[in-house]
Amino acid sequence: MAKITFITQNEEEITLEADSGSVMELAVENGVEGIDGDCGGVCSCATCHVHVLPEFVSKTGEASEIEKDMLELDDKVNEYSRLSCQMEISEDLDGIILKVAN
Ligand code: FES
Repeated sequence: MAKITFITQNEEEITLEADSGSVMELAVENGVEGIDGDCGGVCSCATCHVHVLPEFVSKTGEASEIEKDMLELDDKVNEYSRLSCQMEISEDLDGIILKVAN
């Protein structure tokens, strides 16, 4: 089980729990504002863009090359950017905090 906290653009904090699936799916299923998952999780829309808080980057790892290519098209990209559809939920992610980029 992993507890994941999202901070939306309105500074709303939403903490959710899951033990499988992607972070994007968890956010969409629970209506987290700003995470739309338009492409269904195939890394081709960037509507699931999040910024990992720096202290949690070691838990999430870095974006893959294909993910980075997609993120480059988004003007809110920074060194902490990830596509949440590419983040699989596991115990490793327990306690992380993600800022919704959109
Ligand atoms: S849902 Fe489209 S890139 Fe993540």
